[in-house]
Amino acid sequence: MTELKKKALITGATGFVGSHLARRLVNDGWDVHIIVRLSSKLEQLREAKDKVIVHRHDGTTEGMLAIMQEAQPEIVFHLASLFISEHQPKDVVPLIHSNLLFGTQLLEAMKAAKIDRLINTGTSWQHYQNEEYNPVNLYAATKQAFEDIIRYYIETSPLKIITLKLFDTYGPDDPRPKLFALLKKLAKDKRPLAMSPGEQLIDLVYIDDVVEAFIIAANRLLSGEVANHEIYAVSSGSLVELRELVGMFEECAGRKLKINWGGRQYRKREVMKPWSSYKTLPRWKPKVSLKDGISGIIQ
Ligand SMILES: NC(=O)c1ccc[n+]([C@@H]2O[C@H](COP(=O)([O-])OP(=O)(O)OC[C@H]3O[C@@H](n4cnc5c(N)ncnc54)[C@H](OP(=O)(O)O)[C@@H]3O)[C@@H](O)[C@H]2O)c1
Repeated sequence: MTELKKKALITGATGFVGSHLARRLVNDGWDVHIIVRLSSKLEQLREAKDKVIVHRHDGTTEGMLAIMQEAQPEIVFHLASLFISEHQPKDVVPLIHSNLLFGTQLLEAMKAAKIDRLINTGTSWQHYQNEEYNPVNLYAATKQAFEDIIRYYIETSPLKIITLKLFDTYGPDDPRPKLFALLKKLAKDKRPLAMSPGEQLIDLVYIDDVVEAFIIAANRLLSGEVANHEIYAVSSGSLVELRELVGMFEECAGRKLKINWGGRQYRKREVMKPWSSYKTLPRWKPKVSLKDGISGIIQ
């Protein structure tokens, strides 16, 4: 007898984490559906681009209901989000649109189609100064607001949810203008760069480990272990100072970078020490060391 394929629906599959997750699920034999915008580009999915079923969302709730009815997934991985570190007034509408409206349409459609397993993606930045809730920025506040909206759907439908709160992630095929992209550019250009004093501690998890956390969370939901909403951190369990991290990069790259430490000030609400009072996802442990991960992205 042939085993039935597990069916997943992913939002944010054209992003860094979502594209790695989609590729992993396709490789593991899942039937993968993705919801993208009318404007989304699929290149980030690479070879998985032709192996997933693409649903283009027109922005309406009706459109989302139709997608969910058609896809009928066993589980939804919700990763779509807009990240803005320090927002401007013009960013308010896109932030609410991507991080609240889109997600609420998704929940409404799941309820209507009787799809009741969801993995949601939060951020450690909901916990500035290690507080139960203190958003680093408006982006983190929208993530918290979405958890409040989730509560309504949990109370009014059989929905079971795991929220995975991510810290910093890194790995190959990262289109975001983050630290390693900057360091790689610097190593090539050999130009000097002004940075903050660099004493902030960072919690970095390699992309394959992050994806594994999503798979373990999915299996937990599918096995019926989740009562309503469980929240876990996806943390490396070890912190590294930014200066030390750059030193590790220099060692792996075999090149000294021209960094003017202290040439820039810290951001207003710089996270000097990441959130630490979290629960770790059961049965998950990061496997890739920082040194191996950095070597991987340099190659
Ligand atoms: N990566 C990290 O270090 C990190 C840390 C903490 C939390 N997180 C969370 O983890 C998740 C994945 O992060 P990421 O780094 O992979 O994000 P990313 O690379 O910035 O990708 C964002 C994804 O969301 C999609 N999206 C945004 N607004 C949308 C909308 N209105 N409708 C439909 N799709 C929309 C984007 O689609 P387009 O291609 O159309 O733009 C893209 O696929 C996010 O929820 C993020 O907040 C990530």
